[in-house]
This record gives sequence, structure tokens and C-alpha cells, in this order.
Amino acid sequence: MIYPVTVYGDSVLRKVAEPIGPDYPNLPEVLENLWETMYHADGVGLAAPQVGLPIRIFVIDASTAADDEPGLQEFKKTFINPVILERTGEPWAMEEGCLSLPEIREDVARPEMVKIRYQDENFKEFEEVYGGFVARVIQHEYDHLEGILFIDHLSSLRRKLLRGKLNNIAKGKVQPHYKIKVPLR
Ligand code: NI
Repeated sequence: MIYPVTVYGDSVLRKVAEPIGPDYPNLPEVLENLWETMYHADGVGLAAPQVGLPIRIFVIDASTAADDEPGLQEFKKTFINPVILERTGEPWAMEEGCLSLPEIREDVARPEMVKIRYQDENFKEFEEVYGGFVARVIQHEYDHLEGILFIDHLSSLRRKLLRGKLNNIAKGKVQPHYKIKVPLR
């Protein structure tokens, strides 16, 4: 099932999401729906709060970046209850977008490397270090679990300049090709 994507203005995007256990209701189905929703919207990652679920899960398929980083061809992972243990390296900027912020793209600076602990869909625990594109996507998705959006990393001037666009998103005056859930309508 494809979920509508919650967009800017919805309070669920500003909550700190809750950890879950293996007994979370219909978890396999929820995960399947997250993947389906992400692919339908042409996203590289999707966090549960973006479909209205305030729980600590995100999914990432970074295979679209395999042209630049051949190791990513098979990169498709579910992160449950992730904890970023360390961020290292020089922050570097790259243009980011977000399914919850349709039609906005901005340069965001993030540290180069992350060390992350998480559980997979079988609640097996992993501790891994990532760099490059995946480190960026992980940090973006992880932010969603903390109630943070990429626009929060911009200068106050950039944010001011985006105010009109943000208001339009909150009012549903955007038309991405995927279905959205509009907070103020
Ligand atoms: Ni996002």
C-alpha cells in the first residue's frame, strides 16, 4: 500500500520518534509499505514520520548513486532504532531534497562519515561506518526521527527566502507526482 507523504507543516515531522520492538503491530507490512511509498515517490530514503508514523524506522535505497560510487549498486537497507554514534570528517555541501518538502532543493553541509548502530528488519543489530553519499542520506533520514528537516541546517537568510514556498507546501499548493497529506487543508 502506498501511503500519502506527510509534508511540511505537519506536527509529526517535528516529533522525536519512538523506538519500536519486534512486536510492533503489522511491522512487515509497514516496512513493505514504506518501500513501496518511497519507490513510488522516486525517493532515495524515507523515514516513518514522513508517512505519519512517529516511530524510529527509515529505509534507504542508494543504488541510484551507483554511477558515482559503484559499491552502492546493491545498497538497500532498513534501519530500525538507529543511533548515530559518531560523525567525523569535514562537512561538505550537496544539494538535498525531501519528499516532505516538495519543490525545494538546497545545499546542505554535513559531516563526511557516520558510525551508526541499528537493527535490521529481523532485529539483528549492526554497527557500521559509512561515508560519501550514504552517510549523507543516513544523516538526512536520521534527522527525520529527531524532528529535524534539512531546511533547519540552512542559514536564517536562506530560510527566510524559502518562507513563501514553505507556506505553500503547508497549504497544499504544490503538486508532486505522489500523493501528499496536507496539514492545513
Ligand atoms: Ni527527507
